[in-house]
Amino acid sequence: MFRFLCLLLSLTAPLLSAAQPTFVANYDESKVGSYPLPDPLMPPNGARITSAKAWEASRGYWLNQFAAHVYGQTPTRPVRLRFQPGEVVPSALGGKATRKQVAIYFADYPALPPINVLIYVPNNARKAAPAFLNLNFCGNHCISTEADLPLSDRWVASTADNHRATEKSRGAQARRWPLDTIVARGYAIVTAYYGDIEPDHPAGWKTGIRSVLGDTTRTDNWGAIGAWAWGMSRILDYLQTDPTIDAKRVIAMGHSRIGKAALWAAAQDKRFVAAISNEAGEGGASLARRTYGETVGRLNYAFPHWFARQYRSYNENVPALPVDQHILLSLIATRPLYVASAEEDRWSDPRGEFLSAKATEPVYGLYRKTGLGPAEYPAVNTSVGKNVRYHVRTGPHDVQPFDWWQYLNFADALVK
Ligand code: GCU
Repeated sequence: MFRFLCLLLSLTAPLLSAAQPTFVANYDESKVGSYPLPDPLMPPNGARITSAKAWEASRGYWLNQFAAHVYGQTPTRPVRLRFQPGEVVPSALGGKATRKQVAIYFADYPALPPINVLIYVPNNARKAAPAFLNLNFCGNHCISTEADLPLSDRWVASTADNHRATEKSRGAQARRWPLDTIVARGYAIVTAYYGDIEPDHPAGWKTGIRSVLGDTTRTDNWGAIGAWAWGMSRILDYLQTDPTIDAKRVIAMGHSRIGKAALWAAAQDKRFVAAISNEAGEGGASLARRTYGETVGRLNYAFPHWFARQYRSYNENVPALPVDQHILLSLIATRPLYVASAEEDRWSDPRGEFLSAKATEPVYGLYRKTGLGPAEYPAVNTSVGKNVRYHVRTGPHDVQPFDWWQYLNFADALVK
């Protein structure tokens, strides 16, 4: 769907703005050229980082570089949350899970809608369950075919019913959410509609958290990706109060734009035990300096609300960007990280995602941890690496059973 919208946008872009040149993505590896990457161990004006301790001390510097130049500043003001328990279904998924709904309200901003969190906890868990936290694209009702889940009442991308969810979208993305398998493997799955935090369109901020937090006059004001990442941390705040969830073992995960948010969330919030990036692409896992597939300029043009305005100043001059995405991935060290690509998803630059994951090795090395390992781009459908893992699956931009299978194995290694 998003791919389709993108295609549509690329076709109509010249009509929308006379100033915008038609964008032709480069898919020729020989045209990528050389692109020296900023060295995570060499912050400008600082001494070379040679220890884990020194890296920890430089984390704030690098996080601030991403805030200043890419995602915008995440407000640090504490926000009072009110957790309102909703319906509990003890025998969901044929008795295998307890399904819970919790609404997260913002006590200081009563006009703001809540984040409606949906949780499935395995019924056979003997102790608090480790969890995947993954925002969804079209409302909680999209991820499951269960008829009794309420339809989201928020703005949704589909124009079918004037941006309101309809029964038609129930279970529309269930294929990407193998709930039975996840709970059978002993994991809880926690989700919320990303549009609860901010509807995904340029004016969406007016009805989301960015309407009350941040400073729109600043070029480093946070963008929607920053808001979605922030929302993930607020959901984790709730999970820390839920005795059925092992809040020390919550994995931040996301697909595509939500993958970008999950990476930014995990980089900033060390409470996430690990991170999974499913085809997060440009502005997520892949290297901006590689001119392959989507580019910074194209990203900012098509999605002007996702990033800080400052990011646009690199549209035509990516080498001037003080960071690249391997440093974002490095900020997840020393925690486990999984970066996944899909072969046909050239727009996300699979090789750029691999090289970005590979370039975290010096930082993982400071902790005496093996990062990705293999120097060569792996064969399709082969998971490689150690504390940093990678695969490129056959097929299109998507979340498929093969991906989940790897993520569950990755999580197993983490919880045992
Ligand atoms: C578009 C966008 C990508 C994004 C993707 C998605 O294709 O250009 O950057 O990752 O949408 O979120 O599906």
